[in-house]
Amino acid sequence: MRSKVTVIGAGNVGATTALRISQLGYTDVVLVDVVEDLPQGKSLDMLEAGPVLGTDSNITGSNGYEESADSDVVVITAGIARRPGMSRDDLLLTNMKITSSVTEQVVKYSPNCIIIAVTNPLDAMVQNVFETSGFPRNRVFGMAGILDTARFRTFIAQELDVSVEDVQALVLGGHGDDMVPLVRYTSVGGIPLSELMAEEKVEELVRRTRGGGGEIVALLKEGSAFYAPSAAITQMVEAVLLDKKRILPCCAYLEGEFGINGLCVGVPVKLGAGGMEKIMEIALTEDERLALGHSAASVQELVEVMKKAKAEG
Ligand code: APR
Repeated sequence: MRSKVTVIGAGNVGATTALRISQLGYTDVVLVDVVEDLPQGKSLDMLEAGPVLGTDSNITGSNGYEESADSDVVVITAGIARRPGMSRDDLLLTNMKITSSVTEQVVKYSPNCIIIAVTNPLDAMVQNVFETSGFPRNRVFGMAGILDTARFRTFIAQELDVSVEDVQALVLGGHGDDMVPLVRYTSVGGIPLSELMAEEKVEELVRRTRGGGGEIVALLKEGSAFYAPSAAITQMVEAVLLDKKRILPCCAYLEGEFGINGLCVGVPVKLGAGGMEKIMEIALTEDERLALGHSAASVQELVEVMKKAKAEG
């Protein structure tokens, strides 16, 4: 039987993700957005590419959730971007409300699905979706680490003039300026990066990776990255639908792993049919532990702001 993936939010990230997933060819896609006719128009356009591309995937657009019923995977990209004059907390609380209401509908119509959250601020939104859903942690996680890692891998491949395929990297922590690229776990064709690149150059690439999202925003002037994010989401969806048992960095709810309890942050996990099947707890140096702790503390701050807002109703 064909699987079914719903993408909530038909903006840049959502629509590009829907297109990529439909092109996998083995799953149907439902695209949902609050803007009237937008998901219907975009999905019809994608559907009409099918005969040319040779994909039979059905793509449906909707302003409601009935069509999304019994999805295997639901990707949440719904949200607003930060507008001029808007504080970080305003954005946090607006997207919290959006992701809460979306999650309630998702749970109602697809009680057995796996949810991949993408809305920013990422780690806080994953936490909100996880708590709102009431799902076990293996069925709610977020996309950030694959994107951050892909940026780091891109810069390394460019610098060394090697194939991106041979560059392996790992980025931990929150999806923010204090993410933790683990240079010790980064290699090129099995060769540790430190053997191939001077420390200062590595540091420069780490800095560029940390600012990777901002670099795109500055270039686009309007909106944020969506080609690389949608590729990362698609990789996660495929790992689940094909039960690939991929080891990928994702934002997951930790219960004591890495010394962090009750918080969603980026860590290496195993993705398969069961969703986030395992957290790969690796040994960290003191510096790496401190950096991860610092990154987790930034996420915790946002979670506290959300908690306070919820308590005040
Ligand atoms: N239900 C469904 N869709 C919604 C809702 C809602 N309650 N609220 C907003 N949306 C839709 C908007 O109508 C819009 O079409 O979410 C879409 C967001 O699209 P864009 O503004 O183009 O944003 P995009 O670039 O796709 O990013 C989406 O992913 O990477 C993150 O930071 C990014 O949080 C942002 C999210």
